[in-house]
Amino acid sequence: MRDIGIGLIGSGYIGKTHAIAYAAHNAVFGGPARPVCRALAEIDQQKADQEATSLGFKRGTGNWRDLLDADDIDVIAIATPNALHKEMAIAAIQAGKHVYIEKPLALDATEAEAIINAYEAQTTNTNPLVHMLGYNYLCNPMISVAKTMIDSGELGEIVHFRGRHNEDYMASPDVPFSWRCSRTAAGTGALGDMGSHIIGMAMHLAGPASSLSGDTTTVIQRRKDHTGTMRTVENDDQAQALVRFESGAMGILETSRIALGKKQGLAFEIVGTKGSIEFDQERMNELRLYEANAPIGRAGFKTLLVDSSCPDFGAFCPAPGHGLGYNDLKIIEVNRLMKAIVAGAPVPVDLYQARDIERIIDTWITSAEQRTWLNLD
Ligand SMILES: NC(=O)c1ccc[n+]([C@@H]2O[C@H](COP(=O)([O-])OP(=O)(O)OC[C@H]3O[C@@H](n4cnc5c(N)ncnc54)[C@H](O)[C@@H]3O)[C@@H](O)[C@H]2O)c1
Repeated sequence: MRDIGIGLIGSGYIGKTHAIAYAAHNAVFGGPARPVCRALAEIDQQKADQEATSLGFKRGTGNWRDLLDADDIDVIAIATPNALHKEMAIAAIQAGKHVYIEKPLALDATEAEAIINAYEAQTTNTNPLVHMLGYNYLCNPMISVAKTMIDSGELGEIVHFRGRHNEDYMASPDVPFSWRCSRTAAGTGALGDMGSHIIGMAMHLAGPASSLSGDTTTVIQRRKDHTGTMRTVENDDQAQALVRFESGAMGILETSRIALGKKQGLAFEIVGTKGSIEFDQERMNELRLYEANAPIGRAGFKTLLVDSSCPDFGAFCPAPGHGLGYNDLKIIEVNRLMKAIVAGAPVPVDLYQARDIERIIDTWITSAEQRTWLNLD
């Protein structure tokens, strides 16, 4: 069993999910590698010490750069606001560390390219650096089933992908202005935060996009910050796009952070020439399937429930239908990271695929500004 030392930067919403996943990984998946929580970096020493203790890290530091030359750290995991990803990722790569970076990779595709340039300058055949993004929804066993159905041709030719990632966490005007509302700290709004997830899902299942026509709006234009000062919201509350995939398939993508009633509304419908599938992350242990060749009188969507025939599920539980939850997706993602480090296995989303997601977001924004269809390079 090889120990893989983890240095985590940021212990907010997703940082905690990382900590849970590192701690649980070995009980769920076992060897040949196990993540070991060595250091947690936060904004100051006091917060770092507190969070390191509660999240199970050996030590805390108020300076993330301390992780760079620590010999016991193999992976630097970046779970901080988006604007910090580029500087932290480049420094980690230049220090020879594997990187596990939360989505979105960066503020835009130009920043993403800078991270890739640093990676290409540093990685070598004898000492390859692993790079993985936190697109955890792709790790759902039911998404693996959907991918197998598509890749095997079971659904025929894919002709349409309709996807959304809508939530309502900022639907109330009383939700305060946070880093997520700032163009400098977050880049785009709903688009980078959740749109990146549905774009990643679309690319994973329907392949690369070739062109799009996007639109965005900011519905709640001013919010109070934590001091009570009214601030202008600088990015989108909701966004939608018509998409054409390289395969010729058509698509519709949408995202919103003000979609009242949607709590984890990442969902899609995929239409093929032999069958269709539907998925909703709020019912994440199910996949709905319609088969065109069903006998007359027996056609209709049926609901497949997760069981040990679905990749990764059996590692958690032998009993069918005993579902997984959101945090379990991170445990599966961490297992992908371990396999990539010890065996060179592919990861769900690497720097290059994450850069392509940034290109789609940039093109979506430009298309919305120009009110026109644009090709993706
Ligand atoms: N994969 C997912 O499902 C998912 C879900 C939520 C967030 N995210 C991503 O994770 C990242 C963080 O989001 P969040 O919701 O956890 O934010 P958050 O605001 O809850 O947490 C961010 C943490 O980073 C810390 N931090 C800020 N500056 C720092 C610095 N210089 N050094 C060390 N720590 C610093 C903050 O103190 C805070 O604890 C974002 O990029 C976001 O898009 C991904």
